[in-house]
Amino acid sequence: MAPPSGKAFFSDEERQSLGESARLCEMIIEANPSDTGALETLKEIYTKLGDRERLALVVGRLAGLAGDRPLAGGTSTAVQSGRGPAAPASGTGPSDRRPGVMWRLGDRLVAEQLITTEQLQRALAEQRGTREKLGSILVRMSFLTEDKLLSFLSRQYSVPSVTLSHLDIDPEVLKLVPAQLAERLHVLPIKRSGNVLTLAMADPTNVLALDDVAFFTNLQIQPVVASEVAIRQATERAYGDQGSNVADMMSELEEAESDVEVVEGQDEFVGKTDVFELKESADEAPVVRLMNMILVDAIRRGASDIHLEPYEKMFRVRFRIDGVLHEIMGPPKRLEAALTSRVKIMANLDIAERRLPQDGRIKLRYHQREIDFRVSTLPTIFGEKTVMRILDKESLQLDLNKLGFDPWSLDQFTRAITSPHGMIMITGPTGSGKTTTLYSAINTINSPDINIMTAEDPVEYNLKGVNQLQVNDEIGRTFAAALRSFLRQDPDVILVGETRDLETAQIGIRAALTGHLVLTTIHTNDCPSTAARLLDMGIPPFLVSSALLLVLAQRLARKVCSDCREPYDADEESLIPYGHVPEGYGKVSFYRGKGCQTCSFTGMKGRVAIYEVMPVSQEIRDLILRNAPTGEIRDVARAQGMRSLRQNGLQKVLEGITTVEEVLRVTLS
Ligand SMILES: Nc1ncnc2c1ncn2[C@@H]1O[C@H](COP(=O)(O)OP(=O)(O)OP(=O)(O)O)[C@@H](O)[C@H]1O
Ligand SMILES: [Mg+2]
Ligand SMILES: [Zn+2]
Repeated sequence: MAPPSGKAFFSDEERQSLGESARLCEMIIEANPSDTGALETLKEIYTKLGDRERLALVVGRLAGLAGDRPLAGGTSTAVQSGRGPAAPASGTGPSDRRPGVMWRLGDRLVAEQLITTEQLQRALAEQRGTREKLGSILVRMSFLTEDKLLSFLSRQYSVPSVTLSHLDIDPEVLKLVPAQLAERLHVLPIKRSGNVLTLAMADPTNVLALDDVAFFTNLQIQPVVASEVAIRQATERAYGDQGSNVADMMSELEEAESDVEVVEGQDEFVGKTDVFELKESADEAPVVRLMNMILVDAIRRGASDIHLEPYEKMFRVRFRIDGVLHEIMGPPKRLEAALTSRVKIMANLDIAERRLPQDGRIKLRYHQREIDFRVSTLPTIFGEKTVMRILDKESLQLDLNKLGFDPWSLDQFTRAITSPHGMIMITGPTGSGKTTTLYSAINTINSPDINIMTAEDPVEYNLKGVNQLQVNDEIGRTFAAALRSFLRQDPDVILVGETRDLETAQIGIRAALTGHLVLTTIHTNDCPSTAARLLDMGIPPFLVSSALLLVLAQRLARKVCSDCREPYDADEESLIPYGHVPEGYGKVSFYRGKGCQTCSFTGMKGRVAIYEVMPVSQEIRDLILRNAPTGEIRDVARAQGMRSLRQNGLQKVLEGITTVEEVLRVTLS
């Protein structure tokens, strides 16, 4: 934020560091309004910066304090009233700290005869113990009209006033400041030109709010004044849905913020200066606030991952929402170390270690929900990159009927998971919903009379009544080792997080052939190529053909936003070039999202799984045994009812759930 009347005597860096010192002092004063040391320092800073408005306020507060107790001698620093003709930017003039200078809003209103002393007293009594602004109270008590208050504020602060009721705000501008932040600070972004953001504020002297928004948006802030009530109404209108339950969100946010469990760094680091500084900066209130805000914002938007990414000249925060990364903000590069350290402290990682990758966890309670963040840091050439995977148990959907199966595939899959033995393999790229499908399968078959054991890396959710084991390669507890020890524990069902090496595959297959149901994942493109993958790994064809029960391939496709979807005329035949086999629908309606608040104007919101399910029939067993080419397996599987990922995806287009573009994006032909 550039001080309104700052003179260019300083380099950007000096100005920045002065600004930061000022912020710190403001925070100290917020906690202890009578800290004269901090006020004096602030006075000096604002004098240097030539920021008359704020200087005036500080001087006012000092004067107020001086009235309470004898004035400390020797304070000859200049005092400039914010009013009157242009005060010199670096004031060294004579002191004009007259007794009786009126600084408080109420006093000034009385002085200008806008209200009476008695009205002021009544309003102040009303205000006691609340957080309501005096101005709002005066308006509410009808001592003052909204218009008069506004023009008074505008004059006092020398900033323009703005009427918000007829203002149409560009959604792009709204996006710069999240609803919760706007609501909490009583501000509303209304216009952006270049890197200047015009911000409507109830109190343009609220340095903390100015700083928070500047901090958040990385833009210079041009404050304009509006009444608190008008801002609240406009905020609710502008942010729509997001704004209407802002009260809830605020309490959630506060709750979340206070419930962030911070695990302190270990003692051994204290004393190394640079680390000490890192920790100090990471503990600074705005850093803590910003980080909490990022976490809560990510949860609220339903993000699955948060990326904090350093680049050569910038720092970027991105959220993965419905599988797609969105840029959320670009905090100033200088905050990079502080933010990264903050996350590391929260995740109980070593903040001194900046050259090796680290993994940790953050537990956050948010609105009675416990949410886990799996944190991973990785040194890149421009600094440490942090990725947080959000594991939200509550939003976990473990119902096979709701994942996106078509009836045929669901029937096949259900049969397989209720078989007494054999191997079921799930394949799909990272983040395609494999674990969710596996957990849903386990959830479906889980009952007290069967023993289910899992080896996972990592264990993402705790499943009731299931023995889950965390794989740890470093101590030799590999998937293969875990599987081996499982077999001594009399399991009925075994879940192996991932089959990525021959040994794991061998033991898994052996288990499947000796009376256990084995569920696992493997990396292949589709179902038919899975057999070939196992053979490539070195498993003999007769073992693969006799163990394999069913293969499932999956992708996640974004759904058309249900809040702004609209139909348009289409033709089933238009899907043929993409591999669709027409079923005689002819003229149909497809759906697309116009874009709205709910979907952040992308037209898409939420995801659905697209499945390809291949039961391993006798015919397919024979093909595997003969080491037949994948193409042949595919042909037979299709003849027996399997529909490809692409075909199942296009079916969802016909059902109006997703779009052709989305299906083409997530499936190969
Ligand atoms: N059928 C589904 N419908 C909607 N969202 C889903 C579905 N399945 C999974 N998701 C969501 O997609 C994200 C990734 O899912 P999941 O962790 O199951 O994928 P994965 O393939 O196991 O990922 P990884 O490769 O990282 O292990 C999660 O946020 C999950 O909630
Ligand atoms: Mg997984
Ligand atoms: Zn929408």
